[in-house]
Amino acid sequence: MKIAISGKGGVGKTLLTALLAKTFTESGYSVLAIDADPSANLGATLGFPHPQEIVPISEMDDLIEERTGARPGKSAPFFKLNPKVDDLPEKYWVEHNGIKLMVMGRIKKGGSGCYCPENALLQALVNHLLLARNEVVILDMEAGVEHLGRATARAVDKLIVVVEPGRRSIETAYTINKLAQDIGLHNIVVVGNKVRSQLEKEFLISSLSDFKFLGFIPYDQAVVDADLANVSVVDSSQQIINEVRKIYQDLLPVQASSKN
Ligand SMILES: Nc1ncnc2c1ncn2[C@@H]1O[C@H](COP(=O)(O)OP(=O)(O)OP(=O)(O)O)[C@@H](O)[C@H]1O
Ligand SMILES: [Mg+2]
Repeated sequence: MKIAISGKGGVGKTLLTALLAKTFTESGYSVLAIDADPSANLGATLGFPHPQEIVPISEMDDLIEERTGARPGKSAPFFKLNPKVDDLPEKYWVEHNGIKLMVMGRIKKGGSGCYCPENALLQALVNHLLLARNEVVILDMEAGVEHLGRATARAVDKLIVVVEPGRRSIETAYTINKLAQDIGLHNIVVVGNKVRSQLEKEFLISSLSDFKFLGFIPYDQAVVDADLANVSVVDSSQQIINEVRKIYQDLLPVQASSKN
């Protein structure tokens, strides 16, 4: 099963990615969590020791040069658009509590998209992870679908757009939906996060009436407190863990049907 998670900045993408990764792992699945957000913090959220020491793939200049034939930042007339990547997951994932994590890092964007070697390597790697791996792959993305192309869109079983009660996250959800439709990704669902009241839940449902909701996660001060105290955020709120378990259970039939 391949799950991609997107949404406006700060809505709770990383928290949901981490909790889903944990839930799948505890249920016996092999999970590869992919941090594809430039401001990478999935490792910290998952409680990896020394997360700041994990080197993102996009910063591995030697590897990028070895695989694409061009070094980041150096002008090169040609580089491989389809570099070898199938051996990279085992070499570069880090593992903690049974969850494997790969940190992609920042893709530097040029004026009209970046045709640079680091981008070619990341793109090939994401394609490989989504198309060829057997694990449950969960991608923590930014507010877009930049990492997905037409070929990989088909492999995504669910694109989860996280929203919070607020107009901007709703607008972002519509934008993401449009971008996703453009690349042929139609399996889109939303999760409402930081919901404090029935009124806020109804606001989300009425603002996103064209979307299917996979679940609602309450706002819990315990998450904020855990974050401030620098202790594990994923274990901080039992009510959030319970809601994510329901979301996990709703995701399961996807896998059964995609295996047929
Ligand atoms: N349900 C919740 N209740 C309380 N706080 C929450 C909840 N969900 C997320 N948060 C807090 O909100 C902040 C943003 O969450 P998170 O980092 O998961 O969002 P994000 O969408 O990944 O953000 P970014 O766009 O910066 O990557 C964090 O400090 C997190 O602890
Ligand atoms: Mg994040």
